Amino acid sequence: MNSTKEQLKDKLQQALVAAFGTEYIGVDPILVPASNPKFGDYQANVALSLAKRLGQQPRAIAQQIVDKLDISDLCKPPEVAGPGFINLKLQTEYLEAQLNAIQADPRLGVAKAKTSKREIVDFSSPNIAKEMHVGHLRSTIIGDCIARILEFQGHDVLRLNHVGDWGTQFGMLIAYLREVYPEALTTANALDIGDLVAFYRQAKVRFDADAAFQEAARQEVVRLQAGAEDTLHAWKLLVEQSRREFQVIYDLLDVHLVERGESFYNPLLPQVVEDLDKAGLLVEDQGAKVVFLEGFTNKEGEPLPLIVQKSDGGYNYATTDLAAIRYRIEQDHAKRIIYVTDAGQSNHFAGVLQVARRAGWIGDDVELIHVPFGLVLGEDGKKFKTRSGDTVRLRDLLDEAIARARTDLETRLEAEGREETEEFKARVAQVVGIDAVKYADLSQNRTSDYVFSYDRMLSLKGNTAPYMLYAYVRTQGISREGNIDYEQLGADAKILLREDTELTLAKHLLQLDEVIADVEQDLMPHRLCEYLYQLSDKFNKFYENCPVLKSEEPVRTSRLVLCNLTARTLKLGLSLLGLQVLERM
Ligand code: ARG
Repeated sequence: MNSTKEQLKDKLQQALVAAFGTEYIGVDPILVPASNPKFGDYQANVALSLAKRLGQQPRAIAQQIVDKLDISDLCKPPEVAGPGFINLKLQTEYLEAQLNAIQADPRLGVAKAKTSKREIVDFSSPNIAKEMHVGHLRSTIIGDCIARILEFQGHDVLRLNHVGDWGTQFGMLIAYLREVYPEALTTANALDIGDLVAFYRQAKVRFDADAAFQEAARQEVVRLQAGAEDTLHAWKLLVEQSRREFQVIYDLLDVHLVERGESFYNPLLPQVVEDLDKAGLLVEDQGAKVVFLEGFTNKEGEPLPLIVQKSDGGYNYATTDLAAIRYRIEQDHAKRIIYVTDAGQSNHFAGVLQVARRAGWIGDDVELIHVPFGLVLGEDGKKFKTRSGDTVRLRDLLDEAIARARTDLETRLEAEGREETEEFKARVAQVVGIDAVKYADLSQNRTSDYVFSYDRMLSLKGNTAPYMLYAYVRTQGISREGNIDYEQLGADAKILLREDTELTLAKHLLQLDEVIADVEQDLMPHRLCEYLYQLSDKFNKFYENCPVLKSEEPVRTSRLVLCNLTARTLKLGLSLLGLQVLERM
């Protein structure tokens, strides 16, 4: 099923051609949702941009389009307005028919993408033995949401965890491991070396203080590169330990990833440098091998280099990303690669993508996109830290959200004089806590910084997860109260839209497909959040104005269908954000 917007655009296009000739085929009739109900539901802006080309007044152009416009099956008679807009107002019968159609559709009228693409979402990607910090949390939440939406649209999505599991820091860690847990280098058994982050700190202290240790660390890097058995064994042990710690977070968040860390591309790095040389892009600069970037200069106006091999022969983060681009295009056949990292890496990606493009590694049919996001700030507006100034451990952050959700719940239960089982309380706290953290992140325009506030994200008011969950619970409460099985309402249930709040809700329900198409395109999850927030709000207004269970047939059934469609839309939309719903809370 084509979305209403697409149908209207097609018809506007046809009218344009009918009025002015075939050379207007392909001219995009800009159509936006009306900013004010006064202007109808949609406003087309075709005439203004054509005034010059046609040498006519925009209003006259708009009138000629309207004269050829055949949309009586969708809209009331269109009107020319203002300087030359065309106002379109949907017919009630059309809305009723559309609602009937989406009711019978498990996808609620959202068509799959016309062609399914192989897409890679590179997200989360923490670094081994270093803190998995709030930046990685944002990447995990946003990346998961993008992957879910692309999957829902029928794309073949590979969710890659590009963990930082390779590099010189391992020399230091392994040298330290050799000192404090010598058995770790030989034993076949997994070994628990406790908190890896603390281990990293101790190793760093040792490294900074002792030149002999630094040399030992360098030797371990050489041994690791050469594949020495005991060093490799120690490396695996460290990676394994980190992986277990990351997995706890992924389980809590219900996020799935395929791990393919930096080490995976290690054997491919020499070829990258060689091929850059063959392509004539490589330059020796103070012993390092670099590619000078076009359009990037330093303060002195000199071109900036992208280093691909350091003077000591080592490769780096950028070399690995270049190898990964080639692998993902050649072996994974990716047609779109999406990188979800903080905005601080924008220059890195711009540089890497430029070099890969100039080397001819990115075909015309492949799209590479960096999806940047802003910082997480504390309520004091500074970088998010614990009271003592340490980085917040993600595990603690999520546990705290769950614990606070639990306290809120218990307060509410007491006020309402309700008794609930332990199982119920634990489940509600878990879902509300995790949903709140995810939603707080996703509902912000990702490019801006966001202030992390438990109080705000757990509030029942405003654009929050609990508000949305509550609207969903309300829909389920109606079916419980009336003993209604929503599934049994049947596709033949007739929808009647009479009240303003019903019409407003109905129109909103029918815009889900447009919103999802937008997010698929611009990768901005907050648009979907905003849509769901508006939906909850419009549903609440409808519910305040229109009795459901107490009204007479056929209105009663029609309203029940509206409740059920709202519930299904909320559940689907929230699931695309990675949020779960509750039947009661
Ligand atoms: N490990 C990196 C970090 O923590 C993020 C990796 C992002 N992905 C990539 N292909 N570079 O900053």
